Amino acid sequence: MTINRHHRTSSPRWLRLPQTLAILAASILWSAASPAVSQTPHNDGPWWKHAVLYEIYPRSYQDSNGDGVGDLNGITQRLDYLQNLGVDAIWIAPMYPSPQVDFGYDISDYENIDPNYGTLADFDHLQSEAKKRNIRIILDMVLNHTSDKHQWFIDAASSRTNPKHNYYVWNDGIPANSTGVTEFQKRYEHEGRVPPNNWTSTFGGSAWQWVPAVHQYYYHFFYVQQPDLNWRNPVVEKAMFDQMRFWLDRGVAGFRLDAIPTLFEDPQLREEKNLGGTNAQGDPNYSDAYQSNLPEVHDTIRRMREMINSYSGDRVLIGETYLPNTAALDMWYGGEKHNELQLPMDFLVGFHGDHDKLDVAKFRTNLDDAETKIHGSQPLFVFDNHDNVRSWDRYGDGIHNQQIARILAAILLTTRSAALLWEGQELGMVTTTPTRKEDVKDPIGITGWPKEKGRDGERTPMQWDDSKNAGFSDAATTWLPVPPSYTTTNVKTEESDPDSLLNWYKQLIAMRRSDPTLRDGKQIMIDESNSSVLSYVREGVAGHPSIIVALNFTDQPQTISLDPSKAKVSGKTVSTLLTNAPDLKQSTTLQNITLPPYALWIGSIK
Ligand code: GLC
Repeated sequence: MTINRHHRTSSPRWLRLPQTLAILAASILWSAASPAVSQTPHNDGPWWKHAVLYEIYPRSYQDSNGDGVGDLNGITQRLDYLQNLGVDAIWIAPMYPSPQVDFGYDISDYENIDPNYGTLADFDHLQSEAKKRNIRIILDMVLNHTSDKHQWFIDAASSRTNPKHNYYVWNDGIPANSTGVTEFQKRYEHEGRVPPNNWTSTFGGSAWQWVPAVHQYYYHFFYVQQPDLNWRNPVVEKAMFDQMRFWLDRGVAGFRLDAIPTLFEDPQLREEKNLGGTNAQGDPNYSDAYQSNLPEVHDTIRRMREMINSYSGDRVLIGETYLPNTAALDMWYGGEKHNELQLPMDFLVGFHGDHDKLDVAKFRTNLDDAETKIHGSQPLFVFDNHDNVRSWDRYGDGIHNQQIARILAAILLTTRSAALLWEGQELGMVTTTPTRKEDVKDPIGITGWPKEKGRDGERTPMQWDDSKNAGFSDAATTWLPVPPSYTTTNVKTEESDPDSLLNWYKQLIAMRRSDPTLRDGKQIMIDESNSSVLSYVREGVAGHPSIIVALNFTDQPQTISLDPSKAKVSGKTVSTLLTNAPDLKQSTTLQNITLPPYALWIGSIK
């Protein structure tokens, strides 16, 4: 397991846990197959407030032309599935022209589509077909850096006097014999000079790369091929806002802002603190206090929000915001002014640090913080994405993964959060990490092997059915191999099984969609001293009853008595809305309820 320093200030990220063997437990006791969900618009705020957002990695979702790589037309083919699941918007990971060093996060042209994925006409077609199904498109906007093959950087690196030079962050370096220069800096010596400080790239090595043509170093927080843009140059801000406008004018519903806390660096270039030891890439561990989350970024975000607000249709800004605590998260909303991002991602609920486990106290505190410490803004919880070991493996114990996945789904969909799903999360896809270095595609997995095996494991192709390549592609080989689990874990099999995880997700999504209390009701923790069962009330809204949720986080039966009066709920009788425990299906009382191991119980209070 390694910790990615980019987000070390909060929960460690891109955790590498030994892959657990998923043992499908047989005991999903009761649940009804859900009907198809139709996205009926509700009138409780902008669309994104209660949205189910679904992340798609275009390389891995559906290949429509048999080259082993997914594409936009493939996504279009799967829109009915997404509609049926109850998805309001899809976030598409970068599909712009790119050398694909970081699989699209190194963009060489912000106003086009990579030929691997299709054309602008394919994009327009996808968008109009999605619209027919009430599904919006969110694009991934990479603002911190471009590809080194972007024309701006090619120009910038050609001469110090080129007008594009100041689009990027340059430094002359310091004489190699200056006092205090470390061995680490000396590794990057050129023409008697070394990088100006000890800053490291989150993907390994110094953050400074020498360009002989200009006799200067440029700064890159990520790969060498991802030079950082210079956001202190107002021309850069204008140029990047123009790229966003290109897509807003084309009708996209908003953006997921990639690595957004890293836009600015300390202008004094102060040295980072040495934290001791070395990371998976073999570099000394340094903090990133001067490279990330600088206060200046908030001014930029406020201007960006104004720009977005000038468009009709509730366009949304979603942030990739790994942060140390809820107070920092609140700042990304703009605090009580609510004038920054509408949905900075809350990773505090879903990622707990070195070892994720079902810890009742941690969930209770984090869920309560999200309810009470963000000035009434809208939380967005995240358990999975294309950068992290899947929650199935992070939280799973190898025996009860199936039940634990249902608990995580219930937390995501019965709290007040908007919900983000990562493709395959709804199926219980397992992380399938390469076992041989020569098979690794993600560069950090090659340079970091064997400590850091990269992110391929969570990016394997979507498992649609039990045919060749899981229905993902007709090609002889796919860009990443299809995991062996596809024969049993796939959309087709799970759709026909009323007790599948997929149908559990569908029921939760449908329930939330039809119940204003689940969308908007105040969320209040009850039975707070219980360390085995997490219980909370959602206070009834608009004349609808309050809802009570109890989740047994343990492999033992737990007996609870719940008192919802703290939540200003007067009723004492309950009717079950959803459970996976047959004995609770008829439950009408809040006293002495016995929840079987890992049982979930969601009831309506009368
Ligand atoms: C974000 C992306 C990740 C990418 C990095 C650099 O963290 O999610 O996949 O490698 O930014 O763009």
